[in-house]
Amino acid sequence: MTKEYNVAILGATGAVGRRMIEQLAQSTIPVKSVKLLASSRSAGTVLKFRDQELTVEETTPESFDGIDLVLSSAGGGVSKKFLPEAVKRGAVCVDNTSAFRMDEDVPLVVPEVNPEALKNHHGIIANPNCSTIQMVMALEPVRRKFGLKQIIVSTYQAASGAGQAAIEELKRETQDYLDGKDMQNGAKILPTKGDKKHYPLAFNLLPQIDVLEDNGYSHEEWKMIHETKKIMLNDINSQDIKVTATCVRVPVPIAHGESVYFTVEDEAATAQDIMNAIADFPGVVLQDDIKNQIYPQPITAEGSRDTFVGRIRPDYENKGAFNMWVVADNLLKGAAWNTVENAEYLVKMNLV
Ligand code: A2P
Repeated sequence: MTKEYNVAILGATGAVGRRMIEQLAQSTIPVKSVKLLASSRSAGTVLKFRDQELTVEETTPESFDGIDLVLSSAGGGVSKKFLPEAVKRGAVCVDNTSAFRMDEDVPLVVPEVNPEALKNHHGIIANPNCSTIQMVMALEPVRRKFGLKQIIVSTYQAASGAGQAAIEELKRETQDYLDGKDMQNGAKILPTKGDKKHYPLAFNLLPQIDVLEDNGYSHEEWKMIHETKKIMLNDINSQDIKVTATCVRVPVPIAHGESVYFTVEDEAATAQDIMNAIADFPGVVLQDDIKNQIYPQPITAEGSRDTFVGRIRPDYENKGAFNMWVVADNLLKGAAWNTVENAEYLVKMNLV
């Protein structure tokens, strides 16, 4: 008989949580029951899973009694508090926050890239940062065929990466600007909730995602560097691929863009070779037809599980070096879909 799973979604009312409900509904996981968990603020809210109406419950350690699989996206602090409780009760958790990503015994997995890492889980699997996921999706086929030496990435990240409230903030500021009002007072969340100052994102660019560290980098940039090494090389500090990043928030509601400059070991590789390798990789769609002005854009990537790559071109001044443009829905491949996809792999690999 096929095993069926009791699934809990922690943070079910959030921008990512709501999409986890949809992605789970469309997944291959045989679902026996779904429990929707959030804080006391939204307990009692009714949300749909397939044709069932489910009531959101306040999260307590006992919420995880009898649960097989937890999909979580309620913030790092909430994951740290509740996921060990879920594991204690026998659940396997796929966590979309950064709480456990750097822990040695926690696999950090993009299923198309490093599915084998799932085998080493001890109850918690971490979903990488949204910007890291789409970058490694585009670069893993290149690494496998031509070897990767260096990555220099600049991101153009959507407001929704900071949650549903950041989307609302961007909309309010945009309306205020169009109405000729002062936008400054509307900024309460971005660039990052916990920091001292807030700036408007509408009609603006913010070169700060997450907190700024003493080393000069934002924490988002630090995550992109070390998560990429963990996923591709299984070592957060490996020097085998050099990575540096600049992360920028842009006034787009959904889907991140990335300008990625990279160098390969095989200097005979051409831009066409790179395109062919990328086009063959599962979950990646090549959108690269400059004659017809075809290239990835946030408004066309929104709502898709795929990662879109285009504008692939050589750096004519440096051998074995290329530029490309990568776009993906940060709430789907960057978060909800990658989480549910990890859960699908865990089920398929008999690891739950
Ligand atoms: P709630 O709706 O009760 O605030 P987003 O990333 O869009 O900001 O969403 C965050 C999600 O995390 C929401 O579902 C939110 O629920 C949930 N959440 C926030 N704090 C807690 C908490 N202390 N316990 C459980 N869920 C929480």
